[in-house]
Amino acid sequence: MPATSMEQLVSLCKRRGFIFQNADIYGGFQGLYDFGPLGVELKNNLKAAWWRAMVYERDDVEGVDCAILTHRKVLHYSGHEDTFSDPMVDCKDCKCRMRADTLKDGKCSECGSTNLTEIRQFNLMFKTNVGPIDDGESFGYLRPETAQAIFVNFKNVVDSTSRKVPFGIAQMGKSFRNEITPRNFIFRVREFEQMELEFFVEPGTDLEWHEKWKEARLKWWQEQGLSMENIKPVAIPKEDLAHYSKATYDIYYKFPHGLEELEGIADRTDYDLANHSKNQSEFKISAHVHDKNVDSNSKLALYDEEKKEWFIPFVIEPSAGVERGVLAVLTEAYTEEKLENGNERIVLKLKKHLAPIKVAVIPLKRNNEQIMAIAHKIKKDLLKLGIGRVSLEDSGNIGKAYRRHDEVGTPICVTVDFETIEAEPASVTIRDRDTMRQHRVNLIDLPDYVKEFFS
Ligand code: GAP
Repeated sequence: MPATSMEQLVSLCKRRGFIFQNADIYGGFQGLYDFGPLGVELKNNLKAAWWRAMVYERDDVEGVDCAILTHRKVLHYSGHEDTFSDPMVDCKDCKCRMRADTLKDGKCSECGSTNLTEIRQFNLMFKTNVGPIDDGESFGYLRPETAQAIFVNFKNVVDSTSRKVPFGIAQMGKSFRNEITPRNFIFRVREFEQMELEFFVEPGTDLEWHEKWKEARLKWWQEQGLSMENIKPVAIPKEDLAHYSKATYDIYYKFPHGLEELEGIADRTDYDLANHSKNQSEFKISAHVHDKNVDSNSKLALYDEEKKEWFIPFVIEPSAGVERGVLAVLTEAYTEEKLENGNERIVLKLKKHLAPIKVAVIPLKRNNEQIMAIAHKIKKDLLKLGIGRVSLEDSGNIGKAYRRHDEVGTPICVTVDFETIEAEPASVTIRDRDTMRQHRVNLIDLPDYVKEFFS
């Protein structure tokens, strides 16, 4: 089976309603995409799986959901105002603008010209006016990562939960970056979602936790259907580390356009909590102080009862992009199969918990009242199981319905036919997406069957 191409994915995503170019009726808004009827389900299922694994299944993590608009001082003391930039260069011949690290042998990546401007730093944050006065001073930023709001809420969470290290704070939500060259479909975009955990540990235990989190995250991605053949954890060389990091593993995935970062797992040391704290000289701080904090009124530290001293915890941060997760999961699931009868089919072999539609209920004849009534009742009963979306498919063409549900990854179709209304006991046909095998299940046993299937 050849590797999935980006064209195949983009085409499927548009055709079946997963992902659309934003504002496409106006020619498209570059670097922005919208999730359609099935995309929103897939994305929510991936996020729910992350939240379950990172918050519900653990006893050492709390969740938060903080504002997207961010106080400028937060992003000043975090270092983002000064350092969150990419090197940019313009081609004087073809007028295209690109990241300097994408130049090919010092030549424009579009036209090959060497007639380029000097490299200059371009800050990736979106600045926006906040409040009714536009005096150049009353501005904030759209957050470039969800992490900072977790750090500035550290004391609030500790005070309200009495947590002690090791413990984590998780958050999922939108982040914004004014990428110089958004590209590769939803891989590099200007508005995206992140799933981030800031895991606070005792200084000195950070390297051990860094390894643990790398293993945990690799396992989680496999549970989402990614095979280890396509995943590669890479230790980032010292010279390429972000301004806050002492060590980082990037989890690379073999995307259609190449091996690229899916998630980063950074040892952020005490950098963030120290930089947001007042009176930094009171503590032993390992990270550099970006700018001596004269504005914060908080001590983002914990008290060690044994040593009778305050300390600033170290932080391990697994940070994954939702869009990149969706793209990886789609890449892995997309399959083109040649059938025994010579026909071909596209099937999205998504893990059941990620499938946008869990069950399609298909009445064989939409103008048969008895069949329709049973189909409606089945849908209602299956919805009560809380497994997710159950869709009633009444296109009236069973072959088309199976093909459509293969393409969108629906794990099972339940068909209501004449046998259902004529034979005793009443039964339905179950068709399995992956094997295409069909078998009958008694109507009365259907909810238990479906529950078991998705458990
Ligand atoms: N808080 C740490 C942080 O933000 P990052 O490596 O810059 O680290 C984390 O971003 C993850 O967010 C990346 O691994 C990627 O999955 C996702 N991400 C970053 N920039 C993105 C972009 N422009 N478009 C889509 N996803 C992006």
